[in-house]
Amino acid sequence: MTGLLTSPDPAANPIWAKLTAAAAVVPDIRALLDADQDRPVRSTVSAAGITLDFARQRITPESLTALIELADQQGVFIRRAAMFAGEHINITEDRAVLHTALRLPRGSSLVVDGVDVAAEVHQVLDRMGSFAKAVRNGKWRGATGKRITAVVNIGIGGSDLGPAMAYEALRAFSKRGMTFRFVSNVDPTDISEAIGDLDPARTLFVIASKTFSTLETMTNGRAARSWLVDALGEKAVSKHFVAVSSNSELVEAFGIDRDNMFGFWDWVGGRYSMDAAIGLSTMIAVGPKGFASMLAGFHAMDKHFETEPAPRNLPVIMGLLAVWNRDFLNISTNAVLPYSQYLSRFPAYLQQLTMESNGKAVRLDGTPVTYQTGAIVWGEPGTNGQHSFYQLIHQGTSPVACDIIVVAQSDNPLGDQQNMLIANALAQAAVLARGRTLAEVTADGTDLALAPHKVMPGNRPTSVISTARLDPFTLGALIALYEHSVFVQGALWGINSFDQWGVELGKKVALGILAVIEGQAEPSSIDSATVHSIAVIAEQFAP
Ligand code: F6P
Repeated sequence: MTGLLTSPDPAANPIWAKLTAAAAVVPDIRALLDADQDRPVRSTVSAAGITLDFARQRITPESLTALIELADQQGVFIRRAAMFAGEHINITEDRAVLHTALRLPRGSSLVVDGVDVAAEVHQVLDRMGSFAKAVRNGKWRGATGKRITAVVNIGIGGSDLGPAMAYEALRAFSKRGMTFRFVSNVDPTDISEAIGDLDPARTLFVIASKTFSTLETMTNGRAARSWLVDALGEKAVSKHFVAVSSNSELVEAFGIDRDNMFGFWDWVGGRYSMDAAIGLSTMIAVGPKGFASMLAGFHAMDKHFETEPAPRNLPVIMGLLAVWNRDFLNISTNAVLPYSQYLSRFPAYLQQLTMESNGKAVRLDGTPVTYQTGAIVWGEPGTNGQHSFYQLIHQGTSPVACDIIVVAQSDNPLGDQQNMLIANALAQAAVLARGRTLAEVTADGTDLALAPHKVMPGNRPTSVISTARLDPFTLGALIALYEHSVFVQGALWGINSFDQWGVELGKKVALGILAVIEGQAEPSSIDSATVHSIAVIAEQFAP
């Protein structure tokens, strides 16, 4: 247990210096590919319906082996076992990190801190299942006896991004005829636009908040409550509001009774909670069976991560490549480019998962890191991004590592559009890796003055992550792949991937500023630049 409170400095490990030297002389990606015709086959690994092809990463097999050795010496695999066993690896909050327990198959047992968490997980899943079924088949009705046809999830961060992403991703499996909306922003526009055209008598609100104290969610929740009560009266609340939270006292204080609450536990981090009760809206959309299939996909990737030897282990390889790109190739950003419209919200989901987890600058013992940690993650679906920011990826001065996600089969086959989509994904992977030299540009007689503008440096490290079909199972596996990759990176860096202290100060300061804006506190209680900004905005408010 004490071994989990600290982690050796990776930069002080002799392997780190060896990797630094290797990175200084690593051939470019085109040379790596041309020198070894077997590289693509050797660099392709599959598990749980997901295939990772990392042939276009700028790394030699020797360096990957050295990274595995480094991970081993840094205790990454010991920490992995500790996570699965429910030890308190989130040391700053003294909590277990057990999202993997959320997807243990029925009948499993995992006793943590004296409690069988697997049994508790299935009790909640069963309650969610009965409720979701009743809403879907019309047994659960609104206060006036009408069927529920719209579900509005109100939450933010992990209580929004996962459900919103999963709903988009699994639209092909969702109950058509029902409307699903996701409200997160405290901007009054969000809730107003989300509910403006809905019928209160047919609307169910899911208030999703682990703490049940998040300003945005509580504010939007109260606005929704007033909207409903104005239309249907106070008594209607119990038929139109359910809560998902780990804080039953605050749920009751809000006016939702415990029977309408679905709980989860402090060992589920917000950004790891979409497969806990936070996924209630997902379950209503895809049904309890679809949700179970998603959990099975998560679990299949968990098992792979837990047991597969490192050289064939997808999350281990992906996590180590991320460390290599960040620390040894000095690439600060990672674009996630899903060639699937259904995955349009996946980059936003991954932003929280990766950046809230690994955007940290001190090690477990509180000492500053002397190396780089989490990359900046962003992205948009292909092919849209190609007509927007890919220019910078191809020819800009900041190298970007890319994840190209390909779904082989479309749920909406239309002419040869799916072939076009896949051809574009693979074309981008090829160009990002190989680029186009000056000799190649001029070979077709391109004017010499124009030629430099057409040269493509290539050498952008790219992984192609593919799956046969995007369904609940493969979505679960894909998310778990990224979750565990994040874990590997954080464990190697020796940081705590499971807290998020960096988001607290802004929340506190906002309350102080609100008090000044509303005349309940003196401007002297806040800094002068903010006082000035308030004055500027006040003028715009009432010119
Ligand atoms: O502000 C960050 C955060 O704490 C996230 O980690 C979390 O997902 C989000 O806020 C929402 O928190 P809650 O579910 O408690 O409302």
